[in-house]
Amino acid sequence: MEKVKQALVDQLINGKNRVTKYNYLVTKNDPLSFTTESFQKIVIDLDYLNIDDNHKVLQFTSTIPSEGKTTFVSNLAYLLQQKNKKVILLDLDLRRPKINRAFGVPNENGINDYMSGKIHLEEAIKHSDEIGIDYMVTGETTSLVTNILESQKLKDLIAALREKYDYVLLDTPPIIAVSDSILISKMADGIIFIIAQGKAKKTLVKEAIQTLKKYDVNIIGIVFNQVKMDQAGYGYKNNYNYYSAKK
Ligand SMILES: Nc1ncnc2c1ncn2[C@@H]1O[C@H](COP(=O)(O)OP(=O)(O)OP(=O)(O)O)[C@@H](O)[C@H]1O
Ligand SMILES: [Mg+2]
Repeated sequence: MEKVKQALVDQLINGKNRVTKYNYLVTKNDPLSFTTESFQKIVIDLDYLNIDDNHKVLQFTSTIPSEGKTTFVSNLAYLLQQKNKKVILLDLDLRRPKINRAFGVPNENGINDYMSGKIHLEEAIKHSDEIGIDYMVTGETTSLVTNILESQKLKDLIAALREKYDYVLLDTPPIIAVSDSILISKMADGIIFIIAQGKAKKTLVKEAIQTLKKYDVNIIGIVFNQVKMDQAGYGYKNNYNYYSAKK
């Protein structure tokens, strides 16, 4: 069953034998859509928030897997670079790498390889012509994930990227399964929390948000993803509603 599910996810993400009309990079492929418009608003909010360059390193997480983090962050990255922002996206889901699949590249020469000293930083930074941004895959898998996430070298890497880029976007694991996202949050300026409609139970979402609060994480926004707008009479599906957590 797991295998079948994985194969389905692979198909959807890689676009091979697409089984639905799901549009991964909707902001690029459908610039006039309602969804793209929702994203534009988020980009404007982020620009205001980042006026003083203190919201550059942004982390994306959710309660459980598959709530749309990677899809969301890729679309956001695309629109930010369209506004001439220099953007880099890091796959910090070191246990279940995703960016390589989403971008259709092998998972090699990534963050872990740089961390272990195997390669130089220049080799670990790749460029996506499709999205127009730089990115880093996880690279070779390791069981020492916590060591990497707590290392000074990773902090130094983020600090170096902060100098080079306008936005450093961190795609990170969901909250419930592991504490990785909490460790990562110490390096981020803020978190954008993604909630997919009808996926995680309410109590679980509450628990995840409470965990973030307990660790004093700066939640800068909450995204309601895969909202079925047709129920509201708009006739749109798979949309994004965003609420700034900062008032
Ligand atoms: N707005 C959306 N509408 C419909 N389907 C979506 C939407 N966003 C993502 N999906 C689908 O949901 C699945 C999970 O998406 P995605 O990989 O972006 O989630 P994720 O939170 O990054 O998952 P993971 O926790 O495994 O990294 C994919 O099959 C994707 O095609
Ligand atoms: Mg993902």
